[in-house]
Amino acid sequence: MAPETGPESEETVIRLENVSKSFGRQAVLRDVSFHVQRGETFAVVGPSGCGKSVTLKVIVGLLRPDAGKVTVFGQDVTHASEAAFDILRKRMAMVFQSGALFDSMTVGENVSFPLDQHTATPLAEKRRIVAESLSRVGLPGTEAKMPSELSGGMRKRVAVARALALAPELILFDEPTTGLDPITTTEIGLLIRRLRDDLGLTSVMVSHDIKNVMEFANRLGIHHGGELIAVGTPDEIRQSRHPFVRQFLEGLAHPPQELAA
Ligand SMILES: Nc1ncnc2c1ncn2[C@@H]1O[C@H](COP(=O)(O)OP(=O)(O)O)[C@@H](O)[C@H]1O
Ligand SMILES: [Mg+2]
Repeated sequence: MAPETGPESEETVIRLENVSKSFGRQAVLRDVSFHVQRGETFAVVGPSGCGKSVTLKVIVGLLRPDAGKVTVFGQDVTHASEAAFDILRKRMAMVFQSGALFDSMTVGENVSFPLDQHTATPLAEKRRIVAESLSRVGLPGTEAKMPSELSGGMRKRVAVARALALAPELILFDEPTTGLDPITTTEIGLLIRRLRDDLGLTSVMVSHDIKNVMEFANRLGIHHGGELIAVGTPDEIRQSRHPFVRQFLEGLAHPPQELAA
């Protein structure tokens, strides 16, 4: 079992310091700070529309912050060029909320896609990597299936296999369990944990599923009103006295603050 508090290494893979981002007059991120250590699963949790996807986009350089500092793999990327980000992006993969597989391609072709696009890997080696990636997500031998033949949870796992194909050091998961039933949600959580334990993979997941995150993340931040109002281990979060954290933990779908808004 991996220690609950995270990896032995002290290396910081991601650091956000006082990051702010607005769209027009809407402040989506305000002074957001957190860091992610190598080998840890960090989660950002908050209600729909609070800025979780924006947080991930800032990390992968699809959006630039208005203020603050972003460091990825020890490099200050706050004002990094596209070319600089391109190099860093080879070390990370993102599993998008939609999990979008190409419906006209087989599972194997979907998983092979990043290798086809970004590498000159020989065919036999690609086949080996695809097979290994599918095994890692518990879907060995499914190369010839079409996405339409798979359940929602299996499609999500194929999307994870595709993310693994380029052997990233960091995977960013946008709402990995949204739209899945409770059992499949737990399976995806277990998969993310297994990738951490077996491969030492660092991951960041954003989710509104507090229950899943409390079970599978090493540390998490609770996002509310543009700010991270609490950051800590699940045990630390459980002890938070912040009223919104309490409401979120107790599972109220619409905290009073939101109803009033
Ligand atoms: N590129 C953009 N342009 C304008 N507004 C955006 C953009 N991206 C996100 N937003 C707004 O920022 C807020 C947070 O979005 P998002 O991070 O997608 O929320 P979620 O927490 O559900 O992932 C939303 O109100 C959204 O409309
Ligand atoms: Mg989102």
